Parts: sequence; structure tokens; C-alpha cells
Amino acid sequence: MLRRLHSEQPESFAFTPANLAWANEQITKYPAGRQASAIIPLLWRAQEQEGWLSRPAIEHVAGMLDMAYIRALEVATFYFMFQLQPVGSVAHIQICGTTSCMICGAEDLIAVCREKIADKPHKLSADGKFSWEEVECLGACTNAPMAQIGKDYYEDLTADRLRALLDALAKGEVPQVGPQNGRFASEPKGGITTLTEYVNGSIKLNASAQLAQDIGDTVKRIDGTEVPLVAPWTDQSGRRAAAPAPTAKEAAPASDDAAPEPTEADKPAALEAARDGTPDDLKRIKGIGPKLEEMLNGMGVFHFDQIAAWTDRELAWVDANLEGFKGRASRDEWIPQARELAAEAQT
Ligand code: FES
Repeated sequence: MLRRLHSEQPESFAFTPANLAWANEQITKYPAGRQASAIIPLLWRAQEQEGWLSRPAIEHVAGMLDMAYIRALEVATFYFMFQLQPVGSVAHIQICGTTSCMICGAEDLIAVCREKIADKPHKLSADGKFSWEEVECLGACTNAPMAQIGKDYYEDLTADRLRALLDALAKGEVPQVGPQNGRFASEPKGGITTLTEYVNGSIKLNASAQLAQDIGDTVKRIDGTEVPLVAPWTDQSGRRAAAPAPTAKEAAPASDDAAPEPTEADKPAALEAARDGTPDDLKRIKGIGPKLEEMLNGMGVFHFDQIAAWTDRELAWVDANLEGFKGRASRDEWIPQARELAAEAQT
């Protein structure tokens, strides 16, 4: 399927303060220089905030992670969980159309979507509340046909039951998730024949359906106001915890032959501006994205030959002063790359 950016795009994108704080916290999960690993959670949070991923949102996330825009776009267009066009304000309905569901009636469910939402997938309903699409197997084949709506699965669906679900969601209700035909889980439709001793008539919903029902947030999108997930590096309030005490090895005094910390005297020579007003495209150096290029320009570095001429001490100074990207210049071997590009420019 061709996945393209939507023809109509908003002017800009910015995370809400709560989502920005969350996003910055996610980035701290990864070691310096590996921030790009946070691309999926950040794109997902941008989508949860807006309902879909616009070009400004993708570019904004790429900028936060100092990635080339095209790399972020590749991720957003590769994964079908990312919606590249506006979705219904209440819910986006994902009907599984793969083999089991197709055999058991997915086409009837799709017909309901065409009738009640829009004649084509990824099109908003007249009231803007719903949109729909057909998706590949969602892994609930034993309860076919099924649909994912918001965070929950609705299984053993019929056309009538889907109609009723859409009506309930439109009224702001929280419909019962899980099997819709009275099945407890994925037992035979005629009832269970084994492990009967474990059946407890008082339990109506299986554990995952019960949990989803208890949480009841179904189609509510994440907006940053949720109770923060407690990660090992955060305290109970979600704030960053104090750094752990250094290990004996970390606390040991530096050996005599360890290089001293770079000082301002090690700062490489800077230019006021690019020569002839034409800077080199520093992004041609692997590991430098738009944000790092801006940072380097701010340090008075505009040309490959400047980087190619850095001494070890100057490289150490740059590494220490790349705020948020410390060590990137050494790790990605900017100097040998810059030498090649400078020689190429001369010839
Ligand atoms: S075929 Fe529909 S969930 Fe697997």
C-alpha cells in the first residue's frame, strides 16, 4: 500500500508542555549519541496528541533527535500504526481483513464502515467522528472477525454488533471489549470441553478484557496527564531520580596518564561566518543532522576543512561541548570524513 503524507498539512507542530517533558524523559533512556532510538515513542506521542502524524510533527521529532528528516519520514511511512492523515475525533476503526477474519465475515464489517462512516478508508465520516481502514492480521484470529478500536480489541463481531459499537462510541459510552458473542476467551464456540474445573461462573470477562474494562479509557488518546509510568531512572512522581552513587571503578581517581579535561584554550579556531557566505553542507558527514549542523555553525564551524584540521585536543573540546550529543564527533569519526569531503571539494 502506498503511504504518503496527507495533501493538507498544518503550519507547525509543538508538543504540549506535559508531552514535551515526557518526550525529553524518553530520550534520556538512551546513551549519548543514540537519541534517535527514541523515534518510535516520540512519533507515537505526537500522533496521540494530534490523532495523526503531520509533516511538521515528523520534522519536529526528527529535529529533537537530530535525525535527518528523511530518516524520520522512513519510520513514519513504514509502520502502519502511524496514521498519515486526519482520523475521526472519536475513533479510528481498524478492521482485520486477513484470512480468518475474511472467512468469518470481515467483509460484512467493512460494509458497515462504508455505510456508517465513509465510502472509502481513511476518509472522515460526515460528522468527523469516525474513520476506518482495513488492516492485516491483529493476532486475534481465534476470535475472528475482529476490529481494533482505540486501545482495545472487539472480537467475534457481527455487522449488527459493530453498528451498535459505533453508536455507543458516538455517545461517549465505553462498550464492553473482548468477545462480543458471549465467549469468555477463545474456547470452542460450543463451550469448553477441557479444564472445566477452572471455570468460575462468577467471572464474566477474561483477564485482559476485564482490565481494559476497568481502565475504561478505550478510545481516549494519551495526553500526558496520565499517572507517569515509573521507570528505573525516575522517582515515583516521574521526575528524574538522583544519579546513582558511582561505582568504585567510577569513583577511582583518574590515572596519571588520563588526558586532562579540555579547556577553553582547546577550542578550535572559529570563523565569524562562512567563507564567501557559502557554508559547506556539514550534514554530509555521517552523524551530523540539522541540529548538530546548527550547533557547529554556532561554534564558528562552517567548512569541512575546519573539521579536518582539528587536533585531538580540539576534537575533545568539541565532543565535550556538543550539548546533548557529547562524544558524537569522536564516535562518528568526523575528522576522517571531513578530510575526504574537503579533498573532494578541492578537486
Ligand atoms: S486474521 Fe484477523 S486477527 Fe488474525
